Amino acid sequence: MSGTVVIGAQWGDEGKGKITDYLAEHAQVVVRYQGGNNAGHTVETGGRQYKLHLIPSGVLYPETLNIIGDGVIIDPQALFEEIEYLENLGVKVDNLCISDRAHIIMPYHKVLDGLAEEGRGDSDIGTTKKGIGPCYTDKFERTGIRVCDFLNKDTFVKLAGDNIDFKNAIITKIYNEKALNKQQIIDEYLIFADRMRPYVKDTTDVLHNEIKKGSKVLFEGAQGTLLDIDYGTYPYVTSSHPISGGVCVGAGVGPKAIDKVVGVCKAYTTRVGKGPFPTELFDEIGDGIREKGKEYGTTTGRARRCGWLDLVILKYATRLSSITDIAVTKIDTLAGLKKIKVCVGYELDGKVIDYFPASLEILAKCKPVYEEFDGWDESIENARSYDDLPENAKKYLKRIEEFAETKISIVSVGPGRDHTITV
Ligand code: GTP
Repeated sequence: MSGTVVIGAQWGDEGKGKITDYLAEHAQVVVRYQGGNNAGHTVETGGRQYKLHLIPSGVLYPETLNIIGDGVIIDPQALFEEIEYLENLGVKVDNLCISDRAHIIMPYHKVLDGLAEEGRGDSDIGTTKKGIGPCYTDKFERTGIRVCDFLNKDTFVKLAGDNIDFKNAIITKIYNEKALNKQQIIDEYLIFADRMRPYVKDTTDVLHNEIKKGSKVLFEGAQGTLLDIDYGTYPYVTSSHPISGGVCVGAGVGPKAIDKVVGVCKAYTTRVGKGPFPTELFDEIGDGIREKGKEYGTTTGRARRCGWLDLVILKYATRLSSITDIAVTKIDTLAGLKKIKVCVGYELDGKVIDYFPASLEILAKCKPVYEEFDGWDESIENARSYDDLPENAKKYLKRIEEFAETKISIVSVGPGRDHTITV
């Protein structure tokens, strides 16, 4: 049995795409288990860059089976756009299975996501407006449309018709906006359903048969620990479970199917959107990290907030997901800094605490307690083994391992597949 989970140990954008791609080389199956096309994985290989949103990263290996599990929500339009984008780059997408229990993002989810965000004004959550939250809301309200129902014409027409009527009442009466065209949506989505049909399977069955055969399975998380709906910085979170616990419900396997959890952690911290961020830098060091690390949103181009590495967060993530191995990414970005700080606790009302508080008001009051390390000037993109790394970079990595009580197994020194050191 060999099931490996890759998760983000911070606020997302840790470079999970690259690490998943690296590990996917040795996997027979790659599974997405949560989220939707709100994820934005970037993989660089063979001098080319691939941007993946919904399709598992294993698609870049022709022999790998890619599964979109029941915990994922699917925007059919985005799915087919991504398939076309990949095919135009010469990547075949014929090894893809979609769960018949996954939910469908409908146009009204996207419209309502946008209207709700606008309506919140200054109190907006900063959603991607891709309909993710409203689709998960319908799933839990039990009015969602599952893939198996999407493929059954009569069931879909009835469900979609009722839902569109209901959502139109909200759109017109509460938001005073124009109603959506019911027939047009149904006609368009029936065509999508036919296109999706060949990919749809009972993916739990497919996955269990693969596990029984001894296939190596990689479960690919999207977003990050602090965006988890329960354990993240609520309400500035996503509507699913990016932590490793999400794998069981989102892929339909028990915990025994997992024997390794890789937590991807950037060598510093970034965050998109609002909410407290204890180690945030407002000076030229933060600006320098942003520029050198190209910390701008993949789809929005929005500047990411940057700060020092927060080991309180990493330890929290390690515990929540039973992380067995840490992958540190973007350590190359820190080259050239004279001093590098890491946060090892928070000062709160005159006391030092070492846990991550649930309340955002309390988190906002937390002042980071730092340890300071000497930096290194050598550029480390060409390092290919642990021994090639500068001594000060090794000391930095050692402290991360010690604090998180977890070994570092991968160090990433650049965006490419070959910029990867296994320890
Ligand atoms: P989400 O699931 O949306 O959170 O994305 P992600 O965690 O997969 O992050 P993504 O891959 O979009 O962003 C990371 C960016 O950093 C990409 O452009 C990668 O090519 C790049 N990258 C990954 N690892 C490294 C690294 O070690 N060094 C440098 N310089 N760039 C890296």
